[in-house]
Amino acid sequence: MFRCLLAALLLASSGLAASIEKRQWTESKYCNPEAGGLCYLQIVPRGTNPIFRIAIPDGASGSFDTVLEIIAPITLGWAGFAWGGSMTANPLTVAWPNGQKATVSSRWSTGRVLPPVYSSATYKTLKSSRNATHWSVEVACTGCSRWSGGQINTNGLSMFAWAMSRSQVSQPASASSSFSIHNSVGTFTEPLTSAKNPASAFSTYVRTATG
Ligand code: HEM
Ligand SMILES: *[C@@H]1O[C@H](CO)[C@@H](O)[C@H](O)[C@H]1NC(C)=O
Repeated sequence: MFRCLLAALLLASSGLAASIEKRQWTESKYCNPEAGGLCYLQIVPRGTNPIFRIAIPDGASGSFDTVLEIIAPITLGWAGFAWGGSMTANPLTVAWPNGQKATVSSRWSTGRVLPPVYSSATYKTLKSSRNATHWSVEVACTGCSRWSGGQINTNGLSMFAWAMSRSQVSQPASASSSFSIHNSVGTFTEPLTSAKNPASAFSTYVRTATG
């Protein structure tokens, strides 16, 4: 009897813990004067994890360029972003530090193994840097807004995912480097409202930034 009661109490309290558990990220709108005033949806996952900033042109749907900035704590060996919210069957943007700059790698995975290079998405690096506490990279992606089997939703909720590892990749200068499995993964679901920018300002920034 006592055992039963204890089990019931344990069940009830774990259910409660799950329901009051905090969201695993915070979101805000971030506008950068150094990026021509471009505005981003900024996602800050809980814990020692990368920050992600997403920008898109207003009025776009289907195939259009997307901008992604990754700001990673210096202790991270690689950081990844999944445009469709899962490890498999969507474009993956993976980045890691390479000296003072960063290498960006386009990947796609059909299974939960090292994702192979994905040539249907291409990238332009807009900026990248490293200091004592962080490494960061900003890219424009052609081919990340729509893919075989999905697309980001510009007028409703989109689900994205991320991953990070504390291990360094094997060949930092190579976009086809192998790397080992993540230490953490997460997902977030948000509208892209704060990510939208006037199309002309967006394309000017993508065209003129060089990093
Ligand atoms: C060597 C490279 C990788 C290996 C071996 C690997 C392996 C795995 C495995 C075994 C799982 C399921 C168990 C778990 O949750 O830990 C998983 C889940 C996941 N992985 Fe990876 N992974 C790799 C790279 C990546 C990359 C680059 C991303 C980019 C965002 C990623 C994103 C995710 C996500 C979001 C999940 C959660 C479940 C899902 O959406 O499938 N992984 N991975
Ligand atoms: C280091 O880089 C990060 C990411 O770019 C930035 O937020 C931070 O302010 C920089 N720190 C210093 C001391 O410049």
